[in-house]
Amino acid sequence: MKKIYFLLILVAATLLQPTLANEPDSAWVFSYATTKNRGGNGLHYAWSIDRENWQGIGPEFRFLFSDFGTWGAQKRMLTPFVFQDQQGEWHAIWSLNDEVGQFAHAQAPDLHTWDSQDYPYVMDDANVLLPEVSFQPNENNYAITWLSELGDETKIYKTTTTDFKSYTPTVEGTAADRLNCREEVLIDGEKQLGTISKVSWQMIDGLIKYYQVSQYKEMQRAERLTDDATRFADLEPLTAEITAIPENSKAISDLLIGIFFEDINYAADGGLYAELVQNRGFEYQLSDTKGRDKSWDSKKAWNFTGSQTGFVIDTVSPIHPNQQHYAVLTISEVGEGVKNQGFDGIPLKAGDRYNFSVFARGLEGAKGKLLIRLVDDSGKVYAEGSTKSVSADWKKLELTLTAKETIDEARLQVIPQFTGKVALDLVSLFPQKTFKNRKNGLRPDLAEAIAELHPRFVRFPGGCVAHGDGLDNIYRWKNTVGPLETRKPDRNIWNYHQSMGLGYFEYFQFCEDIGAEPLPVIAAGVPCQNSSCGGHGQQGGIPMCDMDDYVQDVLDLIEWANGDKNSEWGKLRAQAGHPEPFNLKYVGIGNEDLITDIFKERFEMIYKAVKEKHPEITVIGTVGPFSEGTDYRVGWDFATELEVPMVDEHYYQPPGWYLNNQDYYDRYDRSKSKVYLGEYATHIPGRKLNMETALCDALHLINVERNADVVSMTSYAPLLAKHGHTQWNPDLIYFNNTEVFPTTDYFVQVLFGQNAGDEYIASQIHLSNNKKEVKKRVASSLVHDSKTGDYILKLTNLLPVSVDTKINLVGLPILEGEAVLSVLQGNPTDEKARPENRTISLGEPFEYNLPAYSFSVIRMKSKEQERK
Ligand code: AHR
Repeated sequence: MKKIYFLLILVAATLLQPTLANEPDSAWVFSYATTKNRGGNGLHYAWSIDRENWQGIGPEFRFLFSDFGTWGAQKRMLTPFVFQDQQGEWHAIWSLNDEVGQFAHAQAPDLHTWDSQDYPYVMDDANVLLPEVSFQPNENNYAITWLSELGDETKIYKTTTTDFKSYTPTVEGTAADRLNCREEVLIDGEKQLGTISKVSWQMIDGLIKYYQVSQYKEMQRAERLTDDATRFADLEPLTAEITAIPENSKAISDLLIGIFFEDINYAADGGLYAELVQNRGFEYQLSDTKGRDKSWDSKKAWNFTGSQTGFVIDTVSPIHPNQQHYAVLTISEVGEGVKNQGFDGIPLKAGDRYNFSVFARGLEGAKGKLLIRLVDDSGKVYAEGSTKSVSADWKKLELTLTAKETIDEARLQVIPQFTGKVALDLVSLFPQKTFKNRKNGLRPDLAEAIAELHPRFVRFPGGCVAHGDGLDNIYRWKNTVGPLETRKPDRNIWNYHQSMGLGYFEYFQFCEDIGAEPLPVIAAGVPCQNSSCGGHGQQGGIPMCDMDDYVQDVLDLIEWANGDKNSEWGKLRAQAGHPEPFNLKYVGIGNEDLITDIFKERFEMIYKAVKEKHPEITVIGTVGPFSEGTDYRVGWDFATELEVPMVDEHYYQPPGWYLNNQDYYDRYDRSKSKVYLGEYATHIPGRKLNMETALCDALHLINVERNADVVSMTSYAPLLAKHGHTQWNPDLIYFNNTEVFPTTDYFVQVLFGQNAGDEYIASQIHLSNNKKEVKKRVASSLVHDSKTGDYILKLTNLLPVSVDTKINLVGLPILEGEAVLSVLQGNPTDEKARPENRTISLGEPFEYNLPAYSFSVIRMKSKEQERK
């Protein structure tokens, strides 16, 4: 910790350094990428006054990072070539790897404010190595040449451009076309290959300062509450006075706290979606896990008790073309059958009733009943019943089973009571007890834990699931509605399977059941920028010739949700049991995409079409995955240009970021788009949730609430994670088949969700200790909820000492007497802290001792309310 302070002082001192009197007018800058981390460390610079002795600006500091391909190994920058064009703009081009026929290009005015990257396709069947650029004065264009390996031969190729957006067709070049101007320079004792340019000293100074500011920010990010007991070892308990300034109030969003549901970590199948049979439609494919799990195929989770040849998968004449696969059992002896493992077993509760159903067809004249059993591994039967007879055509057979005893890991058996061949599909076991008793509904304990958050909206179905892994994996809402047997399952980008049993109808219905606004997110015509499928992981985009259909799908969604029950798409909603419109108000377009020309073209098409046909819908755009950087900057510019009403920001940050960026939204321009903070969380090493992360979330939400005139919505991410099937940590709520494990951060969301307001009342805190490090750890927010009339004061104390606080709310019509106080408190590493409720006596003013490491909410009744 001392080291961090020392570094902070050092960096601050460097930043304050005056410009020296005898700095040169110009110097040399060397641009290069090291081969470390397989070329994954990005663009570096060094500077020199004499072109001989070089000073690295680093070490290994990246001024530009390749965004090509999937995370990890693919994002490489090999042999960058940096070049200044005739207008003074800088360009970097580089080789991506030794396979693809593309090079990368990015542009910047100053060598560090780089624009979005693009990766032009220039070779069909060969790689692109050592690309270089030069200006051709006679042609008034830029020539780009490179080497390509074709078998044993290496050839030179060339294209030209005037704008670095469109390129002439590739032609073979000659040695004379090559500049071969890369040079070798010794940086920190190691030889590096790169390009040298002469620039003003101001430019070099700008790069050095940019590096120093980045380092400073990194050090701020590293600040941890776990160091505070030592940092503040001598700190005595403090006193504070909070004074409300009622004349300084403003309207704030009444949708501030919502949820983001994504099918990640088995959140849907095996999670919130109450189906108990795994792989019920025999649709699992090896490709769901990208071949990583060799056992992941149509028979996954199923066993046959007869000979292995008696259980095959067929695709001829399925129930529906969207459910291609089904099982065919050849029963040679009655007693043989299939057994399903469920998702880590099938949990049963004594006395509970379960709806079994199956689509079945007798083949080659076979007919008879199916015996259905719920058993344990020893064969003990917990429930059983028989269906009606199968017939020659697909028929849905149903029955109800009642569990005799409680068991966590039962199995489902389907035992044909006849010999011969039978086809089975969509084998389902559904508890009758679902959330709000909905058919095809949700697991009640999980849904209730979500409802407890009082979310004002639900964003779904992702995240990455929405834009998908490659074009073919873009989530299509139409595949997820209608009878289950017509829905089209898909691979889940998180490397498992989506049955689509939890589809758009179920999402919308859940929203209605918990009083939340639905917020579907539609891909912006581009898949995930980290896609591993289709075009070497390129973001790519739906071909423009297919975009009209895609835009129509989005318009159809709005009609499906809001249209009259007799309209083409509204009719489908009505048939599903919801004749009244769902009253959809928000549609998200895009999910933290790269803000490239490909993205912009498609986003604009969708946005304009929705705006024109449905001006009543608020479109939410996207500004990349981070709180700063290229996509954030370019995304905001683009949203401002198009006047997109709201944008979706994402950032996952360590404690120090939240501590040191408390004015993040105070700085926002109120005349631009509103903000939906669609994904955020506090991340610490080990990715656990505890009081440190919870307090940082609370601190951030207090700062957001103060800015809820510009931040309209927020949702923590991700929401759910199943033990043993977690791709991403941390998550708000963990669960297994029978239990729900809420986290410390969940309770912060509950306290905010249940104590939201629609008016922000300014207040001031006066703390007995004026040091910045101390002051920034105590924060408060006062809101008024016009629906209940209540006034709500939220307070965080991130210090290891208590703060005895006098609260002065004079001028507000608060009813004296008692108020409800909820306190979440615990040491930073405490993972088990839970909020406690008690009453607190109010007065003018009143006292409250904020415990060390705590988040408190005081909910006060108003006099107006009493008069009613
Ligand atoms: O919340 C998990 C993932 O994080 C989301 O799918 C994606 O949008 C983000 O990268």
